[in-house]
Amino acid sequence: MKHQDYNFCVAPMMDWTDRHCRRFHRLLSGKARLYTEMITPGALLHGDAVRHLEQHPLDGPVALQLGGSEPEALAQAAQLGARFGYAEINLNCGCPSERVQRGAFGACLMREAERVADCFEAVSTAVDLPVTVKHRLGLGRNSSLELVCTFVERLVRAGCRVFIVHARNAWLEGLSPKDNRDVPPLRHADVHRLASNFPQSRFVINGGLTDHLSACVAVQRLDGVMIGRAAYRTPAMLAAVDRLWFGEECQTKAAARPSGSASESLNPLLHALEGYRNYMQKELQRGTSLGAMTRPLLGVFQGFRGARAWRQDLSCAQALRAGDLGVFDQAVERFLTVQRTEAT
Ligand SMILES: Cc1cc2nc3c(=O)[nH]c(=O)nc-3n(C[C@H](O)[C@H](O)[C@H](O)COP(=O)(O)O)c2cc1C
Repeated sequence: MKHQDYNFCVAPMMDWTDRHCRRFHRLLSGKARLYTEMITPGALLHGDAVRHLEQHPLDGPVALQLGGSEPEALAQAAQLGARFGYAEINLNCGCPSERVQRGAFGACLMREAERVADCFEAVSTAVDLPVTVKHRLGLGRNSSLELVCTFVERLVRAGCRVFIVHARNAWLEGLSPKDNRDVPPLRHADVHRLASNFPQSRFVINGGLTDHLSACVAVQRLDGVMIGRAAYRTPAMLAAVDRLWFGEECQTKAAARPSGSASESLNPLLHALEGYRNYMQKELQRGTSLGAMTRPLLGVFQGFRGARAWRQDLSCAQALRAGDLGVFDQAVERFLTVQRTEAT
C-alpha cells in the first residue's frame, strides 16, 4: 500500500510557517504534513532553542527543517528537534539566498553530494526519525538532470528515502530568493523523469501548485505534493486536504468535482477560526503579539466577498499592538454580515 504520510505537505517558509501559522494550518487540516521555517543548527545550539522549537502538542506531524553543512552540528540540532517532538528532520539543499551561500549550505550543496551524504548519515545516526532532503532540479541555466541525479543517487546510497523537489533550478548569481521562486522555469515533467530513475525512493513535488486540481495533475505516479505560497495566499485550500488527499475518495475525481455551496465551504473555516481564537487568547496571556498571530489568517477568506475588508481589519497595526481580541471578533462579525447580506 502507498504510504500516505507525504500525500500533502505545506512547505517550510521563512517568516511564515512559524508555530502560530502551523497551529492555524493544523486546525484546517489534521493530516497535512507541516514544515517549520528553515533553522540553522547555530540558532538552536547557541540561541534560544525553546523559542525556535516549542510547538503545540496537537500540531504533529511537523517536520523540522535544518539548514547547515556541518554533520556534527546538524546531528546535535536534530537531537534537540527529536526531544521537542518533531516527526521528521528535513535538510535544506534548495535555498539560494546569498546569506545561505556564504554559510555554504542551501542550494549550493547540490554540488557537494558527498558532504550532504555525510550530513544525512550523521543526522540519521543521531535520531530515530525519517530524514529527508528538499532540493532543486539543478543549478544555473543548465537544464540537464545530471547534477540532480548524481546528488540523489549518492543520498540514496546513504539511505535517504524521501526527496522533496522544488521543480526549478536555483540560479545562484543575480537573482533574489524571491525571483528564484519565479524566474527559473518550472519543470514538473523533469521531477517525473528524475523519479523514474529511482523507483525505490519517494518523491514529493513542489513549485507552482496553486489549487487541488493542479496538485492532482502534478502528483501522478509521485508520492505527494508540497504547497508553499498557496498556503498563505489561499489557506482555505487546507480545509479540503484530509478529504481529498487522505480520505477514500479518488483524488483526481474529488478535486475535479465542483465544490459545495458557499456556506459549506465557509463552515470549516469558521470552525478553525473559532479554535484559533482560543489559541490566541491563551497566547496573549503569555505575552505573544496579536499581530504575529493574525498574519496567517489574512488570506483565509480569499475568493469570498468581504475578503478585502477582513484583511484590512486584521492589519490595523494600532489595534493589534493593543493586543485586544475584539479586533478579531469585529472582523469576523463584519465578514459574516457581508455574507448574510449576500444571501438575502
Ligand atoms: C516567504 C518564503 C519563504 C521560504 N522559506 C523557505 C525555507 O525556509 N526553506 C525552504 O526549503 N524553502 C523555503 N521557501 C521555498 C518554499 O518552500 C517552496 O519551495 C517555494 O515557495 C515553491 O513552492 P510554491 O510555488 O508552492 O510557493 C520559501 C518560500 C517563500 C515564499
